[in-house]
Amino acid sequence: MTTEPPKTGAEWQAEQSFPPSEAFRAQANAPDHDIYARAAANPEAFWEGFARELEWFTPWTQALEWNPPHAKWFLGGSLNVSVNCLDRHLAVHGDRRAIVWEGEPGDTRVYTYRQLHAEVCRFANVLRRMGIGRGDCVSIYMPMVPEAAIAMLACTRIGAIHSVVFGGFSTEALQERTNDCRARLMITADGYWRRGSVVPLKQVADAALPQCPSVEKLVVLQRLGEKHPVEMLAGRDCWWHDLMAAETDVCAPEHMDSEDPLYILYTSGSTGKPKGILHTTGGYLTGVYATTRLVFDLKPSDLYWCTADIGWVTGHSYVVYGPLANGASVFMYEGSPDWSKEGKPCRDRFWDMIERYKITILYTAPTLIRACMKWGEEHPAAHNLTSLRLLGSVGEPINPEAWLWYHRHIGGERCPIVDTWWQTETGAIMITPLPGLVSTRPGSATRPFPGIVADVVDENGKSLPPDHKGILVIRKPWPSMLRTLWGDDHRYQQVYWSKFQGLYFPGDGALRDQEGNFWLLGRVDDIMLVAGHNISTMEMESTLIEHPAVAEAAVIGKSHEIKGQTPVAFVIVKEQSAPLPSDHDAIHKLGAELKEFVSHRLGAICRPEEVILTADLPKTRSGKIMRRLLRDIAEGRVMGDTTTLADPAVVAGIREKYGNEED
Ligand code: WT7
Repeated sequence: MTTEPPKTGAEWQAEQSFPPSEAFRAQANAPDHDIYARAAANPEAFWEGFARELEWFTPWTQALEWNPPHAKWFLGGSLNVSVNCLDRHLAVHGDRRAIVWEGEPGDTRVYTYRQLHAEVCRFANVLRRMGIGRGDCVSIYMPMVPEAAIAMLACTRIGAIHSVVFGGFSTEALQERTNDCRARLMITADGYWRRGSVVPLKQVADAALPQCPSVEKLVVLQRLGEKHPVEMLAGRDCWWHDLMAAETDVCAPEHMDSEDPLYILYTSGSTGKPKGILHTTGGYLTGVYATTRLVFDLKPSDLYWCTADIGWVTGHSYVVYGPLANGASVFMYEGSPDWSKEGKPCRDRFWDMIERYKITILYTAPTLIRACMKWGEEHPAAHNLTSLRLLGSVGEPINPEAWLWYHRHIGGERCPIVDTWWQTETGAIMITPLPGLVSTRPGSATRPFPGIVADVVDENGKSLPPDHKGILVIRKPWPSMLRTLWGDDHRYQQVYWSKFQGLYFPGDGALRDQEGNFWLLGRVDDIMLVAGHNISTMEMESTLIEHPAVAEAAVIGKSHEIKGQTPVAFVIVKEQSAPLPSDHDAIHKLGAELKEFVSHRLGAICRPEEVILTADLPKTRSGKIMRRLLRDIAEGRVMGDTTTLADPAVVAGIREKYGNEED
């Protein structure tokens, strides 16, 4: 939950409201307000309407089978995702741009639908020749290059299940995810460009693979080229371009059952190892197709840019599958927002590209917007951004200040903003305004997408009246919902369906105001959202404890102006390793070492902003660490309720320490 004082209903109401413009409404894909009533009256028929717009080899015989908490959608139907994202468009607009890409150093590439189709078929043939087929898992560890999308789509063409691992993740994270799904093949690149430096992706894959016994081969894309040579292991490693050269661009698509697995994507769990979210074929594609169409209002004339990396669900649903299923033109960028194509630090790379490519729709994260706010409005102001007509936000609650800044300085007060709430688990957008239809309020994701039945309940699962803070739940199954956790259905039932009987529990706090707008209030469990990335405090704690000097650790998410939250670690050092309290150098050195340790093990986004060495941690009598108190300390608040604390002196001790350590 967020830690600001609760707002009253009147305060929410006092916030500004932005009604949709007539001009936008007149051309919007979302037809009229009736869509909400129609979907509510018969959600299954509503979803079937979208499914029918896709291409099926065999039509389904039943829309939904619901054995709580297990759903099947479009039973008996068969289809292929790559056919729907590519082949389906060729007859009418094969020459439309599918992917427009720019690398960080400014190199560019464009693929029409026809070209993308050919590349995907060719790579699908590569996979088949390597013996990969239906139901095999493929681990994709790639940068933001068109080949990442090609690899994903090629898997779908032959019925292989992909598991994309974010290119910023460490060796250990890659190993754990690759082993959990027993991937037979890994696809990577020699490296990629980030802030003017090379990120040596293949080195990480090389380090991971000796501990990944299921992986037989490694396909390596040459992104950097001859100037940055990599070692190729004979018998295991093959170059992407060599394999491609040997294949044709004709590839018969596999007929997949609607409920066949499409992909696995790992997301942090509040306890223990990452959760392998499983999405299946027909329902997922229907969900992302419908939401992309209505929420982003895509038209043939648009150039649409979702800034998410392919390693996150946003990259799956709204860089690749949703937009391509809609036949849209998608922009992709390899690098960092603060690096120019001339190879220098800058503050306007995004605005520069929007101007140069005439991008019309921008979908990004609050953390990026807050960083840009900090850099100053003169940077967007120096560019012509009038091509933009719609803006989106995703990943965490967007604070009204950032919303208004986005509206004024990027949207020119002309573009509707869609603040979209959803999760890796939901597969597609769940709560969002429909542009042209719904009035927006800065900080609110507004209303459930048609066909989605969301509610706010109390601890007992009882529906709350308007203006009460509670827990968000979803009351009915939807096509793109996760089907299970890979290899752990028990945990699936535990995590999402055991808190309230028959209700999906996403783990977010929420309030619904008198107008029916939803305000998302952050996580109710111990997951942090650092710059829009879901990070488990438990995973960080277990990592810290692996360091030889650490006895115990508690990690909390501290509010952060730009990133939303940032990790702060409270660490009890083993006696023999503990520096003397007066030895500031040694304390500083150990702190720095622990930050590095976590960053190395889990990836740079998990790097603790602060490490506080302490003699003890505040615990309840039953031995649970009271993270709420640690958050109070880290955020400099007066102490909350300490009645259940075993030893109140502990808190005073930490507070004193924390005061001393503050940079
Ligand atoms: C969690 C899911 C959805 C793709 C990116 C993150 C938070 C996401 C919003 C939003 C408030 C949001 C929630 C959710 N979240 N979008 N518009 N407003 N909170 O996917 O890593 O699965 O994280 O992100 O807390 O549960 P994810």
